Amino acid sequence: MIIIKSSQEVDKIRKSGRLASKTLDFVATILKPGITTKSLDKEIHSFIVKHGAIPATLGYRGYPASSCISVNEEVCHGIPGPRVIRDGDLVKVDVTTILDGYFGDTCRSFIVGKASSVAQKLLDATRESMMLAIDTVHDGSSLGDIGAAIQGHVEPLGFSVVRDFVGHGVGCKFHESPNVPHYGSAGSGLKLKKGMTITIEPMINQGTWEVEILKDAWTVVTMDRKLTAQFEHTILVTDDGAEILTVSH
Ligand code: MF3
Ligand code: CO
Ligand code: CO
Repeated sequence: MIIIKSSQEVDKIRKSGRLASKTLDFVATILKPGITTKSLDKEIHSFIVKHGAIPATLGYRGYPASSCISVNEEVCHGIPGPRVIRDGDLVKVDVTTILDGYFGDTCRSFIVGKASSVAQKLLDATRESMMLAIDTVHDGSSLGDIGAAIQGHVEPLGFSVVRDFVGHGVGCKFHESPNVPHYGSAGSGLKLKKGMTITIEPMINQGTWEVEILKDAWTVVTMDRKLTAQFEHTILVTDDGAEILTVSH
């Protein structure tokens, strides 16, 4: 069932989204070579709790941390641990806050220190593809428009779109209907309605789109171990467009 949110519910999702975004602003200030992903996760945990919220990932289906931190070839769901961040690493940090019972879900990619040109191109293409997808959204637009915008932007650049993980409805729960694929054809699939809140969170690979899950049962990596990037926003479908709910202002 797809939940159409009331304006009161949207307001709570907006507040949670704002905190999730501010958490990533904070991450940007402390992400430096030499820090372990575990200590970064501890800082994220304190930041979220200090602002009166709960990290949604902690204990979610047994997930053991307050953020997902995925480095270089790690696509998503990287479990924070002893891995040390190095100069040039492409680091994806995904946080989801629960504030007053409502969820905000957002992810950014960061390049620590000096970026290789391919890492920078991949990061830029991924962020642009998310924004182009958001631009397609309005009351009556199709889920397929989102996927088509993403594929249409990154594939001509030689990059590929991960199939196995998708965006989702979000707000009253962590993962709601519908699934939001980052591939597809314009005009196909479910029609979006005003008041829906969904994530758009493309995972874009340098090489093959295929991925596998490591033995820890969480960390998703590219099959060819090449680089991958991700950005994610929680958005509200409006009459004539979309409002990004995971912004800091
Ligand atoms: N935040 C992720 C998403 O965008 C989900 C992480 S679930 C976890 O949907 F269990 F891996 F943390
Ligand atoms: Co999400
Ligand atoms: Co997320």
